Amino acid sequence: MALFTWDDRFSVNVREIDEQHKRLIGMINELHDGMKSGGGKAAVAPILKRLVDYTLYHFSTEERYMAQHRYPGELAHKTEHKKFTDKVMDFHKKFDAGTAAVSLELMTFLKSWLTDHIMVTDKKYSKHFNDHGLK
Ligand SMILES: [Fe+2]
Ligand SMILES: [Fe+2]
Repeated sequence: MALFTWDDRFSVNVREIDEQHKRLIGMINELHDGMKSGGGKAAVAPILKRLVDYTLYHFSTEERYMAQHRYPGELAHKTEHKKFTDKVMDFHKKFDAGTAAVSLELMTFLKSWLTDHIMVTDKKYSKHFNDHGLK
């Protein structure tokens, strides 16, 4: 069974962003599968790299729309992205150096961070984006 399943409750009412969130969830599941496969570092390294890159791409999409539509909550939202990015980059560095591994603890953190961030922080921009024609 997948670690993380998309649920319509996650929708932020913007199609492009929902699609990106679905892809992130898919990549978190892939990382979880890679971890369970027993292939060790070699099995998870490329998945982790793609997840990190796609997360940055996703944050830049949201931040571009926030700037473009003068979203009032932009600064607080960007701060959350930055804190998460710093944490993930730090983990990635340790992973590459061989001093950290993908663990169930990391998977739980990724899943709960993304769930909370979508449900609380991302959902706050829905009305503003919809009012500015983004759907
Ligand atoms: Fe966000
Ligand atoms: Fe998001």
